[in-house]
Amino acid sequence: MKKLENLDKIVNLCKNRGFIFQGSEIYGGMGNTWDYGPIGVELKNNIKKAWWKMFVQQADNSYGVDAAILMNSRVWDASGHTASFSDPKMDCRNCKTRHRADNLIEEYNKKHGIEDMKVDAMSKEEMYKYIVENQIKCPNCGKCDFTEIKNFNLMFSTKRGVTEDNQDIIYLRPETAQGEFVNFLNVQRSTRAKVPFGIAQIGKAFRNEITPGNFIFRTIEFEQMEHQFFCKEEDGEKYYNEYKQKAWEFATSVGLSAEHLRFKDHDKLAHYAKAACDIQYLFPMGWNELNGIHNRSDWDLSRHQEFSGKSMLYLDPITNEKYVPNDIEYSIGCDRLVLAVLCEAYDEEELEDGETRVVMHFAPHIAPYKVAVLPLQKNLSEKAKEVYKRLQANFMATYDEAGSIGKRYRREDEIGTPYCVTIDFDTLEKGTVTVRDRDTMKQDTIKIDEIEQYLFSRLTK
Ligand code: GAP
Repeated sequence: MKKLENLDKIVNLCKNRGFIFQGSEIYGGMGNTWDYGPIGVELKNNIKKAWWKMFVQQADNSYGVDAAILMNSRVWDASGHTASFSDPKMDCRNCKTRHRADNLIEEYNKKHGIEDMKVDAMSKEEMYKYIVENQIKCPNCGKCDFTEIKNFNLMFSTKRGVTEDNQDIIYLRPETAQGEFVNFLNVQRSTRAKVPFGIAQIGKAFRNEITPGNFIFRTIEFEQMEHQFFCKEEDGEKYYNEYKQKAWEFATSVGLSAEHLRFKDHDKLAHYAKAACDIQYLFPMGWNELNGIHNRSDWDLSRHQEFSGKSMLYLDPITNEKYVPNDIEYSIGCDRLVLAVLCEAYDEEELEDGETRVVMHFAPHIAPYKVAVLPLQKNLSEKAKEVYKRLQANFMATYDEAGSIGKRYRREDEIGTPYCVTIDFDTLEKGTVTVRDRDTMKQDTIKIDEIEQYLFSRLTK
C-alpha cells in the first residue's frame, strides 16, 4: 500500500540511497536542477531502454535519431516557438516573485473543489479577472497584488560566434520533436521508409519554466522521449487512437497501475491540431500530465517546407499520389515518468517482528540492480565475490558484506533489487545458495549453477 501524502519521502529516499541529488549541491545547489546518482541512472536508463524497445525495436516501421540540441534558429521560427512558446506570467508587487497565472488558478480551484473549469482555454484578461475577483493569493507572501499578465517565452537563448560583435542568438531546444521533423527527408530517403512510418528520439530539452518544482516533475532541463508517426491524412484518427493505446500500454508496462492513470482530452486545441489528449498520473500532489498524444495534421512538415524551401512531399510508390504526410505525436518526459515510477513503487510494510520496511516494488526489467550478492559472514566473501563476478557478466549486480544480513536485505529493498543471493556455509559444502525474493521475502535454495537460469526466467516475466 502506498503511503505518500507528498513527495518528501521520495526526495529523501532518492538523496540517501543515490537515486537523485540536488544539482551542484556542494555550491548550495542550482534551483531546480537534479543529478542522477548511481542507482537513479540505472533506473532511468532502464526506462529509456524499455521505451526504445517498444517504440523502435519492436515497431516494424520506426527509426531512431539523435539530433543536435542546438539547431538553426529558423527551425524555431517554423515551429512557432519563437513567436508563441510562452506561459502567462505575473509578478507579485509585494514580494517580487514570479508566477504562472494558470497554475495559481489551478491550485486555487483544486483547494476549493472546482473541477470543471477549462483554465487552458482562458484568455489573459479572463485569468486576471478571476484572480482578482477571487482574491487568489501569492503563494510566497499571501498578498493578492499582481502585475498584469504577460506572455513569457520559455526558450533559453545563448550566443554563437567567436567575437563579441559577431554573435548570433541560438536556442537550447525546448523539445526534441523538431529534430525528428527536420530529419524527415533524411530518414525517409536513407531507410527507404514508406508512409506510414515513425521517427523516435530520446534527448535533453530545456525550458525556462516560470514555476518549476515538485522535485523532477517540472524542471528547466529534462529528457523527453518523443515519437512522430507520419501517415496519410485519412488514417490520422486511426493512428491517433492506436498511439493512445500504445502510450497506455507503455505506462503500465513500466509498473504504473491503471488505477493511477487516466486520459484527459485537451480543453483547447491548437489551430492546426485535429485531436490532443494527455495521459495523467495520480502523483501525491494530484492528477497531473504524464505524456501527450496529438494529431498535428500536416502542420509541422508544411511549416518546415515553407521556411526551409525544401519540398516535404511524399510520393506514394503505389498510387503515385503526392502529399505532405500528417503526424501523430507521442511525447513523454523521461524524468516525469521516473517520478511516477518512484511514487508507484514506494511502499512501507509492517513486518511480523513489528519493524517497518521501505520497499521499492519496481518492475524487474527497470529495477536498477537485478541481483545483490551477500555473504552471510565475512569469511565467506571469497566465494561470494566469485559468484558476484560471474553474475556481473549477465546482470547489473551489486555486492554487500557490511552489517547484519537483515540490514543488508533492507538496503536492497529500499533500492528495489528484486533478488538477493546469499552465500552461506552450505554454499561451500553443498554448492547451494539461497535466493530471496524482494516482494514476497520468500527464499529458495538452489544450486550455484542454476542461478543464471533462475534469474533469467524471473526477470524477463
Ligand atoms: N513535442 C511536444 C511537447 O514537447 P509538451 O506537452 O510540452 O509537448 C511533452 O511536453 C512532455 O514532456 C510532457 O508531457 C512532460 O512529460 C514533459 N515535460 C514538459 N515540460 C517539462 C518540464 N519542464 N520538466 C519535466 N518534464 C517536462
